[in-house]
Amino acid sequence: MPNTNPLSRTLKLRCGSVLKNRICKSAMNEAIATGEGRVVRQFEVLYKAWAEGGAGLLVTGNVMVDKRHVNEPLAVAVEDNRDVHLLKLWAKSAKSTGGLIWAQISHPGKQSPKFLNQAPVAPSSIPLKSDMFIPPRGLTEEEILDIIERFTNTASVLKDAGFDGVQLHGAHGYLISQFLSPNHNQREDQWGGSLENRMRFVAEIYKSIREKAGKTFAIGIKLNSSDFQKGGFTQEESIEVCKALDKLGIDMIEISGGSWENPVNRKGNLKECTKKREAYFLEFSEILKQSVETPIMVTGGFRSQAAMQEAIKSGVVDVIGLARPLAIDPDLPNKVLSGIGYQSSVKPITTGIKKIDDMAIMEISWYTDQIRRISEGKEPKTKVCGLLSVIEVLYNFWRRGQTVKRVRT
Ligand SMILES: Cc1cc2nc3c(=O)[nH]c(=O)nc-3n(C[C@H](O)[C@H](O)[C@H](O)COP(=O)(O)O)c2cc1C
Repeated sequence: MPNTNPLSRTLKLRCGSVLKNRICKSAMNEAIATGEGRVVRQFEVLYKAWAEGGAGLLVTGNVMVDKRHVNEPLAVAVEDNRDVHLLKLWAKSAKSTGGLIWAQISHPGKQSPKFLNQAPVAPSSIPLKSDMFIPPRGLTEEEILDIIERFTNTASVLKDAGFDGVQLHGAHGYLISQFLSPNHNQREDQWGGSLENRMRFVAEIYKSIREKAGKTFAIGIKLNSSDFQKGGFTQEESIEVCKALDKLGIDMIEISGGSWENPVNRKGNLKECTKKREAYFLEFSEILKQSVETPIMVTGGFRSQAAMQEAIKSGVVDVIGLARPLAIDPDLPNKVLSGIGYQSSVKPITTGIKKIDDMAIMEISWYTDQIRRISEGKEPKTKVCGLLSVIEVLYNFWRRGQTVKRVRT
């Protein structure tokens, strides 16, 4: 019998790569590198588990382009060839079942916490509304050009190590998204002001990587549908950026939203129609589809096979992005592809204490701990045990912080 599951359809990208199905593991910080951001063998174990899970595309967590500027402890940084052997093993294990691997390359800009970074940078010297971060210094033009070069260099090292492509992290309030936002970018030179100027940074990164890596290397982007903040990057502007990147030839656009100050990417907007279709950004994708030819991936909220199938069948989206469900069930793609009516058990983490439940770090860290377990060859936990989990999460977060501190002092 022919396979009629829309999730099983292949997808050919402009660069020539073919996704064997429509499921993608979205970026999740692995937080398993060394305190200096070096690659370790556990990446190989982790990505073997996800490869065996059957997704057509695996996108890594943030790979930092500059080890001085990181978003969290034990983030991996790739600046040169020193870990090429381990990067090769990582890419090979991720591709061992015929799927593709892209590295998400990233610079956090001002979203680099003060216990890791005493001198964060940003398009303009506008602080974040939190004591966790030191107010940033505005970048000079020379430094902007250096960061573009760093993105290009990191992509080139990853390509040589066997990665099929890179995804630019242009969402969630990191540096590319800071450049796009009129709230965070108040420069008066060619890198700020009009939308054309604010998008120059991402366009130049794209062009520089394309020139160096060639036509057959995949380049995608994760972009906010909007910042969901007054005076921020709007939906209309996001569509204009997508149109410009589409014209430049980008291979895939992943839609997400929000930032550290407003993390809608993990919660959605809770409208009735959103709840029904599960995914938070489908309405935006529907509008965007009319303006670009680039395949669109939507991440955030997908939990059931039925909603994933419906989203692909409707043509509103080309690829389903999944994060938290894959941190507790690496085999999820095989289950939804075999059509058994899968339903993920991911639910908002609640401890009963609102202040704790509202802390972004709590949720992210709990899933990070499950990812670490998989990388150590253990089964991830599937249930959160209230306050006990809080203690566990805080301990593990503190432990990661201590590792970095030891390296830096
Ligand atoms: C543990 C964890 C780490 C994450 N790290 C990243 C990251 O490195 N880059 C990124 O773009 N998004 C990251 N995200 C956000 C996810 O990619 C995704 O956008 C979000 O979790 C919503 O998707 P979901 O509902 O399928 O979990 C992370 C999320 C979690 C839970």
